[in-house]
Amino acid sequence: MNSKKLGLIASVLFAGLLFNSNAHAAKTYQVATDAAYAPFESLNNKKEVVGFSVDILEAIAKKSGMTIKFINTPWEGIFATLSTGDRDMVISSVTITPERKQSMDFSDPYFEAKQLIAVGKNSKVSKFTDLKTLKVGVQTGTTGDEVIQKLQGKTSPNIKRFESTPLAIKELENGGVDAVVADNGVVVNFVANNPNSKLKMIDDATFAKEYYGIAVKKGNKALLEQINKGLAAIKADGTYDKIYNKYFGK
Ligand code: ARG
Repeated sequence: MNSKKLGLIASVLFAGLLFNSNAHAAKTYQVATDAAYAPFESLNNKKEVVGFSVDILEAIAKKSGMTIKFINTPWEGIFATLSTGDRDMVISSVTITPERKQSMDFSDPYFEAKQLIAVGKNSKVSKFTDLKTLKVGVQTGTTGDEVIQKLQGKTSPNIKRFESTPLAIKELENGGVDAVVADNGVVVNFVANNPNSKLKMIDDATFAKEYYGIAVKKGNKALLEQINKGLAAIKADGTYDKIYNKYFGK
């Protein structure tokens, strides 16, 4: 082997070493999101995850020097990806609830929401209790699901569960269910973007305020701290408001 060849091998090896140590230095955090929840998280026509949640977490990551990668992940089982270590964070319009707090940790809240009812334009429903004996579509395991369980009972055959909120709304348009209960932002967005959907929205004063948080594996204090610091920073410097106004107006 001549010295030229040796030199080449050595430099290839060296480059490989550099590349490897770099890969270790900058961890890429895997972020789970159920991207069927516009305007918070959805896929654009290039199949990229976009939305309010994406802009918020990207701004947080920039502040705290994190590299993140969004991975479209089905809602059912999304929280289990934290305990298995497949994902480092879940940002998916997740409402912080006492039950969920037992199995994962949440960041400070980044959005306030509440449930909203969608029904056909000619429906007689005017308040939540009118749904007592009607067929109601929800996304499985969401707070909408919990709320209707409280009214109809856990085992009610009239609760129709769907793997995504758009599927539940489709069923409402097709007349398969009488109403859908889901987060206000998503219902408002759907009705605004589908003027031919013949749906109307009903707000009910009994619905409690909900707060979205970013979820991490239980006990991952270091990551939670980084997220909370970044969130506080983007709230303080106006970045949060800019993103909020982009999606929800002033
Ligand atoms: N906020 C509701 C919950 O936490 C619904 C969230 C659904 N998010 C989604 N990307 N599908 O239960």
